[in-house]
Amino acid sequence: MTSQKDKTAKLANSLWGGRFAAGPAEIMEKINASIDFDKILYAQDIRGSKAHCAMLMAQDIISSEDGNKILTGLDQVQTEIEAGNFTYDAKLEDIHMHVESRLSEIIGDAAGRLHTARSRNDQVATDFKLWVRDAMDEMDNALKALQIALVTKAEQHAHVILPGFTHLQSAQPITFGHHMLAYFEMFTRDRDRLRDARGRLNECPLGAAALAGTSFPIDRFQTAQSLKFRTPTANSLDSVSDRDFALEFMACAAISATHVSRLAEEIVIWSSAQFNFIQLSDKYTTGSSIMPQKRNPDAAELCRAKVGRIIGDLNSLLIVMKGLPLAYSKDMQEDKEATFDAANAFALIIAAMTGMIDDMKLHENVMHASTQNGFITATDLADWLVRVLDMPFRKAHHVTGTLVAMAEKKGCDLDGLTLAEMQTVDANITQDVFCVLDVESSVASRTSFGGTAPEQVLLQVKAARDRIE
Ligand code: ARG
Repeated sequence: MTSQKDKTAKLANSLWGGRFAAGPAEIMEKINASIDFDKILYAQDIRGSKAHCAMLMAQDIISSEDGNKILTGLDQVQTEIEAGNFTYDAKLEDIHMHVESRLSEIIGDAAGRLHTARSRNDQVATDFKLWVRDAMDEMDNALKALQIALVTKAEQHAHVILPGFTHLQSAQPITFGHHMLAYFEMFTRDRDRLRDARGRLNECPLGAAALAGTSFPIDRFQTAQSLKFRTPTANSLDSVSDRDFALEFMACAAISATHVSRLAEEIVIWSSAQFNFIQLSDKYTTGSSIMPQKRNPDAAELCRAKVGRIIGDLNSLLIVMKGLPLAYSKDMQEDKEATFDAANAFALIIAAMTGMIDDMKLHENVMHASTQNGFITATDLADWLVRVLDMPFRKAHHVTGTLVAMAEKKGCDLDGLTLAEMQTVDANITQDVFCVLDVESSVASRTSFGGTAPEQVLLQVKAARDRIE
């Protein structure tokens, strides 16, 4: 039984007393700590610290004796982390404090000199930029592998004919190579955007200190150079409060993932029993526990879906950054999980998509058969009327429409109409018109730059190979 005294004590504690103080302190520790997710920045943190330390020594801000102890100590911390025998503790908040605290256990007082002319604000901005820069490079490599898969497929299937759609209605016959190259263009733009964003990221915030710069005679050009940044950032306030690089990285990922999702959706459609244009390999499909015939395109579906979280990640950081006053605010600690999550999701979908493209088998006959309905060469017929009979295009469109209606009534495709039937619509039509009504002639005729003709596609494949860097 709880005594009256205990009850009073509890009440007092929960409202004003020890428990009240202890409660929020625990929560404070929990809400404040980022070590659970920022521990992956250890290598960037140590690299940044070593560059800073070397500069402090070169500028005679710290002695070479202390500096060398710091450098060796940092190496040891890195070894311990990588060996998996490092203790993390939420009380030490983040990776920066963990590294420094362990350093002081190893080398003693000299460790305290490392933080001269630096703050965690410029430190975290630098570490995070280093991480995002690497992530951009990985993203670029992954996209390159996908580009190669697409160009390879395009070349192998430059002559394969399938219906091209608008509104998901059969529009005009196209070649499979042409379709693959459409995605090649998207991923080329994505890589271009990344390169552009990387150029803007590539300025070093280290030395901005807390927000105002420092009175120590530091050499920011040296640290920038040793961390392979193009130049130091030009404004210390901006340096510690900028997260554009993470936003741009996620924006690049979101746009690119949008492209992936479109291709994924086409794969889902193409691999359905109704379309049956392609067969995905066993490696990227799953079966159903109840329906033995099923071959589900799970990888494609997840590629289609992951874009959701990537856009969400971008949104979450945009919303965190919106309205923040200069310079650093702790809000900005929320930048990392979103960015890491977007990078992970993006790496997964690009790798899965590359594998699916590499391994997919085409059902060329089914694709071809699917072009044999839907009056898919109607535009070729209209173009013939313009070219051979010198009809204005609008009139040719009308005449073709009448012929389509006639074929529809008869239950055949356009080439199922007889010449005599066609001539009831326009007496000048000749036998020659039948040369443009088959899909092979249709695609072969579209030789305009960037068009669907196999010969054009093969030229574009060649150009694409040269454009892949
Ligand atoms: N863990 C913090 C972050 O990720 C490091 C910077 C903390 N700076 C500060 N002044 N409290 O943003």
